Amino acid sequence: MEEIFSKINQAKNTTELEEIRISVMGKKGSLTAKFAALKNCDEAQKKTLAKELNLLKMEFEKALANKKEELSFKELQEKLQAQKIDVSLFSSCSFKGSNHPIMLMLDRIVEYFLSMNFMIKTGPLVEDDFHNFEALNLPKYHPARDMQDTFYFKDGKLLRTHTSPVQIRTMESQKPPIRMICPGNVFRCDYDLTHTPMFHQVEGLVVENGKDSVSFANLKFILEDFLKYMFGDVKVRFRSSYFPFTEPSAEVDMSCIFCKGEGCRVCSHTGWLEVLGCGCVSENVFKAVGYENVSGYAFGLGVERFAMLAYSVPDLRAFFESDLRILEQFQ
Ligand code: PHE
Repeated sequence: MEEIFSKINQAKNTTELEEIRISVMGKKGSLTAKFAALKNCDEAQKKTLAKELNLLKMEFEKALANKKEELSFKELQEKLQAQKIDVSLFSSCSFKGSNHPIMLMLDRIVEYFLSMNFMIKTGPLVEDDFHNFEALNLPKYHPARDMQDTFYFKDGKLLRTHTSPVQIRTMESQKPPIRMICPGNVFRCDYDLTHTPMFHQVEGLVVENGKDSVSFANLKFILEDFLKYMFGDVKVRFRSSYFPFTEPSAEVDMSCIFCKGEGCRVCSHTGWLEVLGCGCVSENVFKAVGYENVSGYAFGLGVERFAMLAYSVPDLRAFFESDLRILEQFQ
């Protein structure tokens, strides 16, 4: 047995230790055999021998456990040493993550309106008919509903087609004055070169107490200032248009940033690019949210369109295809 204890002491690793354990305590182990031989002894012999064997077994197990702890610790240290990573080593992989161009553009837009004291509001993507249409002066069967091809759910709910419902929800939950923008993604059943079924909008709403507090002139100032902030020295014009939720309504054009108004392929040789929809908030919208004796303006823009113009991206789909060659250019 002495020999076995010295073997344990000299074991170099846990595998050797396990071999020793098997040679002593395994099915064909030396100690196992001694225990088995007990059945051939007479009663008195059996008693003393069994006691001795049990003591021996306990000592053996203790020695084994102690050595195992020592060797396991040593092996762990060796393993950690071998797997150590030098984080200060030079790496040849230089690709860093970057923001998506849509998010970059969204950040710039939001930055402008924050500087003009607008609050940022968000709302649900799955909307009800009231918030997406009715409250915005678009009753059922109104022909202007066809302006936006809508994704409907079986229960009558829908994917919001614009972020305007956030304006309704904000007006329902707080009193004027309101000065807010609602950035977010919106959904329309449309897919071609210039439309994707999901895209991003930023809409804005300003409401003040008093019938004449806010006018089209205020709207005109903020949008002109905004477009100059985004695109530099551009000319801006307001073209009379129609939206059910605003009256009067206008579409906003800026002089083409590529040809400076001379006429080119991007502006279809008109010299102008259409970039925003806007107007003074319709009385019917105020009625739907229970507002009286107020005035306000609203506007809306597509973030993808702004990003295409600002970053000269010719195809809208480039934003949604996750092509690293395109995304890497926005680091
Ligand atoms: N909600 C309009 C759209 O999605 C944009 C808009 C907002 C137009 C506010 C005018 C005023 O098309």
